[in-house]
Amino acid sequence: MAVLAEKRIVLGVTGGIAAYKAAELARLLVKAGATVDVVLTAAGAHFVTAATFQALTGRPVWTDLWNESGLAGRGMAHIDLPRGAAAVLVAPATADFMARVAHGVADDLLTTLCLARNCPLLVAPAMNVEMWEKAATQRNVAQLAADGVSVLGPASGEQACGETGAGRMFEAQQIFDALAAFLQPKRLAGRRVLLTAGPTFEALDPVRGLTNSSSGRMGFALAQACIEAGANVTLVAGPVSLATPVGVDRIDVTSALDMRDAVKSALAGRHIFIAVAAVADYRPVNVVEQKIKKGAGSLTLELVVNPDILAEVAALPQAPFCVGFAAESQNLAEFAEAKRHAKKLPLVVGNLVRDGLGGATNSVILFDDKGQHPLPLADKLTVARGIVDHIANMISPCTE
Ligand code: C5P
Repeated sequence: MAVLAEKRIVLGVTGGIAAYKAAELARLLVKAGATVDVVLTAAGAHFVTAATFQALTGRPVWTDLWNESGLAGRGMAHIDLPRGAAAVLVAPATADFMARVAHGVADDLLTTLCLARNCPLLVAPAMNVEMWEKAATQRNVAQLAADGVSVLGPASGEQACGETGAGRMFEAQQIFDALAAFLQPKRLAGRRVLLTAGPTFEALDPVRGLTNSSSGRMGFALAQACIEAGANVTLVAGPVSLATPVGVDRIDVTSALDMRDAVKSALAGRHIFIAVAAVADYRPVNVVEQKIKKGAGSLTLELVVNPDILAEVAALPQAPFCVGFAAESQNLAEFAEAKRHAKKLPLVVGNLVRDGLGGATNSVILFDDKGQHPLPLADKLTVARGIVDHIANMISPCTE
């Protein structure tokens, strides 16, 4: 995860049973190339020992406001630890810890460095459902959010105490992913982006239709990458069962004609249009009202060509910056370049269908006026971040 490489993260661990997940989180951060300074509260040390974190991070673990020499050896750990850190991340964050930070209390090393910090603070709450739902906790969490603290979770489910409900800490991987998303450079700040994603479904009769194997994952990953880069994002999605990335406005559609209508009505004021959807090229001329019955002979379907949504948008007089996708089974460079010129697009993202369609990973080549730019095989979110970076390089900075 490039964004964490060479970053220093202060990982605060407070006293909850979920502290055992913080060990895994520390390991993920270290694996991603981050330097991790763990600050363990007295209550946290009842659950996990400093030795665990010291072994995982290869660095001293900070526990005491009074006895620590600090990174600079001048006895000011509460100042030196957050200086130069990319973020302070507290996982688990107990109700008590959040209450103290919300009120500016600084009575141990972790709360004091939270007050003294000049970098972002992210907290992953973990507590019993009753504690989480208490008005006092909700007030404190709202106050933290209002103060610019990012609150990650909590999740709902079975709790260590045997009760069930909201208050479970996010899993280590979820917290790691949220931190990586948070730290992405805000290269599309102020930009309004419209995307299409997924397949379309062209009905034949009430129960059947023509579609394709697009999973929508690449388009959803791009929507997420655009949000992470600070854009305002609307996603027009064909029939897929994927969760909407947080912060994305989603419009669900079924057919190519629905998708075109949705794009048209959401297009005003957009700076960027990214057409990832695998739009069906053809639709049945007639959709019959009753289910087609099996007969003895063959069945002939008459199809009519669908509008090319991307080409229509790119041909508008005030067209946004348009990005197309070319999923090909052969001759990628030739077909992608042909598509780029035919649809008059500044950028086409090409991939061989065996690399991308339906799967979790993708390897793509970006085609623009300057030539071909391959991105390495990676999970779709990493590829999407690479595409967003390239788009940001191609468009001028937002001055609005
Ligand atoms: O021509 P082809 O379908 O291969 O072009 C693919 C690109 O055009 C993709 O970006 C796709 O989202 C877009 N497209 C579209 N409307 C269509 C067909 C394709 O927006 N009817």
